[in-house]
Amino acid sequence: MPIKTIIEPFRIKTVEPIRQTTREERQRLLAAAGYNLFLIPSTDILIDLLTDSGTGAMSTEQWAALMRGDESYAGSPSFTRFRESIEAIFGFRHVIPTHQGRAAERILFSVMCKKGDVVPNNTHFDTTRANCEFVGAEALDLPIPEARKPSLIHPFKGNMDVARLEETIARVGRQRIPLVMLTVTNNSGGGQPVSMENIRAVKQVCSRHGIPLYIDACRFAENAYFIKLREPGYAQKTPREIAQEIFRHADGCTMSAKKDGLANIGGFLCTNDDAIAQQEKDLLILTEGFPTYGGLAGRDLEAIAVGLNEVLEEDYLNYRIVSTAYLGNHIAKEGVPIVQPPGGHAIYIDARAFLPHVPPAQFPGVALAGELYIEGGIRSVEIGTLMFGEHATMDLVRLAIPRRVYTQSHIDYVIEVILEVWRRRADIRGLELTHQAPFLRHFTARFRPHVSTAAIATSRLGS
Ligand code: F0G
Repeated sequence: MPIKTIIEPFRIKTVEPIRQTTREERQRLLAAAGYNLFLIPSTDILIDLLTDSGTGAMSTEQWAALMRGDESYAGSPSFTRFRESIEAIFGFRHVIPTHQGRAAERILFSVMCKKGDVVPNNTHFDTTRANCEFVGAEALDLPIPEARKPSLIHPFKGNMDVARLEETIARVGRQRIPLVMLTVTNNSGGGQPVSMENIRAVKQVCSRHGIPLYIDACRFAENAYFIKLREPGYAQKTPREIAQEIFRHADGCTMSAKKDGLANIGGFLCTNDDAIAQQEKDLLILTEGFPTYGGLAGRDLEAIAVGLNEVLEEDYLNYRIVSTAYLGNHIAKEGVPIVQPPGGHAIYIDARAFLPHVPPAQFPGVALAGELYIEGGIRSVEIGTLMFGEHATMDLVRLAIPRRVYTQSHIDYVIEVILEVWRRRADIRGLELTHQAPFLRHFTARFRPHVSTAAIATSRLGS
């Protein structure tokens, strides 16, 4: 019989100790942090699932490549290796390095958009939305209707609603739409993939109206692998071939190499348009750096050049998708409500369904994230009422899995902690805001237990 167990396709060469804390310590730390996990030092976290961005482990080949890093201000061979690695997969004419994804977004929107423009996307990530709005344009989300129903299973829940894209172009006019974007995978929509069929259909609409299509490519390899697994006609293709096909449909991309670049920092912006590339490079020099380093060290360019190839290895992608689903399926089996099906980089718990007695105004996602920390030292992040205010349609708790960092026993521990919190969910109460910043408030907001909770907590301490 063929062996069915899927293992981590690596062995561990360097280890980084993680520190256990007691429940009492964690209760104290959480209260001192105003119930905001962003404000807890990472040394007091046991399993950090805050983000999959820049938190991955590099390979021996990446560490070796760091030593090859050439730190010349201009014309470094490290840039040549970076560009060649990107060209071989992404295939665009111009490759512009940036220090991370949002720097690429800022330059793209500054050059291509003006006040009053509209930029459709399947779902803008929060930095994409903020950079778009910063230049006065409207960031318009056009996900398929299925994307808004957490428990509904659909193979490509990241797809864009093509009919609504057509309607939008007819309504606002082509001249107000400088570009259309597709985010692969759709992070804000639950890490869900976009199908090749959808990419092709969106491109057709764009071509008909002469609008360029840009891909937000952060998790392009995970998306390519989902296409291989789920879309008819792709089973025999390699993830690299599928990725190349995705980008053939596009006119450019933004990329955060902190995700599927398998690097701790870095990003890039690509385009096929010579005139736009020139303006982007001019702006790059102003704020990021010369176009052969773009705010990165030569060694960072080397790590990305290697990471982009490793991330497309099939053993890696299989482990990646299977291990994320392992977490999702084990908690869902016990009744924990999650966004279905499991995404590529994260599992999203539906906090409104988990804590139906906590109204959105009392931040069920923040309350649940706090309980996962108290129970087992796990750090997750709320994506809901705290992040989006009253516009939030869901309250989710995202458990993002860093790449090549945690083993299956770490994930088994996470499952046990979540199920323990699930068993005592009826006792969990909401929170009250005590401080908020005027924008991006989720990073620094502070809370206290909602009054009814405070009473319960005090009586418990007394018992
Ligand atoms: N686009 C998407 C889809 C993202 O998920 C992110 C970052 C960015 C753009 C911006 O890239 O951080 O390099 O500037 N997402 C991280 C996360 C922060 O936790 O999901 P960046």
